[in-house]
Amino acid sequence: MPNYEQCYQTISFDVVPNVWFTVRAWMTSQTYLHLGSVHGVQAFQGHLREYNIAIPCDAEMIEGTNSPLAKPLELNGRRIGNRFAIHPMEGWDGTIDGKPTELTERRWRNFGRSGAKLIWGGEAVAVRHDGRANPNQLLINEHTRDDLARLREALIDEHRQAAGSTDDLLIGLQLTHSGRYSQPNIKGRPEPRILYYHPFLDKRVGLSSDYALLTDGDIREIIEAFHRAALIAHQIGFDFIDVKHCHGYLGHEFLSAHTRGGDYGGSFENRTRFLREVVEGVRSVAPSLEVGVRLSAFDVVPFRPDPTRSSPGKPGPGIPEDYNNALPYRWGFGVDINNPIECDLDDATQFLSLLQDLKIRLVNVSAGSPYYNPHIQRPTLFPPSDGYLPPEDPLVGVARQMHCARVLKQRFPDLLIVGTAYTYLQDFLPNVAQAAVRENWADCVGLGRMVLAYPELPLHILQGRRPDRKRLCRTFSDCTTAPRSGLPSGCYPLDAFYKKSELGAQLSEIKDLNRKKTAEA
Ligand SMILES: Cc1cc2nc3c(=O)[nH]c(=O)nc-3n(C[C@H](O)[C@H](O)[C@H](O)COP(=O)(O)O)c2cc1C
Ligand code: SF4
Repeated sequence: MPNYEQCYQTISFDVVPNVWFTVRAWMTSQTYLHLGSVHGVQAFQGHLREYNIAIPCDAEMIEGTNSPLAKPLELNGRRIGNRFAIHPMEGWDGTIDGKPTELTERRWRNFGRSGAKLIWGGEAVAVRHDGRANPNQLLINEHTRDDLARLREALIDEHRQAAGSTDDLLIGLQLTHSGRYSQPNIKGRPEPRILYYHPFLDKRVGLSSDYALLTDGDIREIIEAFHRAALIAHQIGFDFIDVKHCHGYLGHEFLSAHTRGGDYGGSFENRTRFLREVVEGVRSVAPSLEVGVRLSAFDVVPFRPDPTRSSPGKPGPGIPEDYNNALPYRWGFGVDINNPIECDLDDATQFLSLLQDLKIRLVNVSAGSPYYNPHIQRPTLFPPSDGYLPPEDPLVGVARQMHCARVLKQRFPDLLIVGTAYTYLQDFLPNVAQAAVRENWADCVGLGRMVLAYPELPLHILQGRRPDRKRLCRTFSDCTTAPRSGLPSGCYPLDAFYKKSELGAQLSEIKDLNRKKTAEA
């Protein structure tokens, strides 16, 4: 099997046909540069040059209405007032019957306060109870409709106070079924709903070889739940819905259902039937509702901590599962089937062509999955408690996602492309965001974790203010460790609310306990 470190010495991207961009990762050391210790944009640019990491970065910020980040966009007659988007981020803090709590509302208010004019989905909201990723995930149905309406209004209210106009604010709701990652009833008890057997992922949740697959009839019922959910979203004022196709959840799993028979697996046409039938139904019940898709545009095989470099409670760097007996690799989307630690953008290109045919212009480009290859999906220096150490410099992960968005933007200039994975850039996020939009690598810069830590950052950038360095997300991953320890998500290290609350004390206790266990082991 190829050595992952050797393989990732050079990562190539087909940026436009016949032009290859190379991003060089340095794999000899597991100690990567801490961006918080890099002083000045010039030093950062020098660092990118030295390691041949092709991330655009402007030395100077352009202020006022001339800033590329302040330029409005148009979507089918609607104006989107600037180039910042807020990615969906759930907080594991809904009620057992799927309604938002005060914590949920606080997060949505923060999204509104950011000043970003595109709110991509708020957070993943399950269309049915069995498709919830955790027992505290929001649900959309008649019982929760008024609460979700209030959540949206709270966001708008906060946005009005912080940024003035709300006419140019576009708000979507991310609709999902969690599929393989469903855990609707009890924390820590997975209840997967799967489309096909997976050579690596089934074992991770202890599935037997005869575990029941979703039938075509089950799938049709789920599609109808998406139609009902979209109608409610439309009636309570959301501008668009996102039919989630990322991160290993059900929509994403359809795209890799090569080994499934029946109407929803095998050919590209069958693997995208779910999307087409969802969209067809949505258009018939709510013709004026916009539809968007968040997509994991590329992937690699599942990773796990290297056992030779792990100790109890202390996972080592990530390595890929041994895929030698699983070639050609038929369980992925956007992955090279002969060398599945490499990405392949042909799948995403075919999929975006379909979106264009379906007159879907809103596309949010993400990658991989937080469950099986988080370094691809969410570049991080400090992994969550059950993760693995980064197997590459997280900047390479940022570059990979940025290049993917760029390629897709070049191939589909009429689509409105939101890019992902900017948070890891920390102090240099403003300079990279400006350059990326100016050079048309993406239409909008999507922000995830950074907004949990520092909600006002987009507004501060647009106002030409220097970001407050103490509030920048440094990718400590507590927002992931907390829910995996049974607590709501949030920025425990930097958001004073969590730091001071009982939740902060609880998370510290859990982490101390884990450290003690490790020491004893
Ligand atoms: C706490 C947390 C919750 C998330 N929830 C969702 C979600 O509900 N839907 C989704 O598509 N992505 C979700 N993500 C992924 C983010 O939207 C985003 O893709 C990722 O964090 C990378 O962007 P960033 O580098 O700006 O953080 C979540 C991420 C975090 C940290
Ligand atoms: S807990 Fe806060 S600092 Fe850590 S990754 Fe999440 S948002 Fe960033």
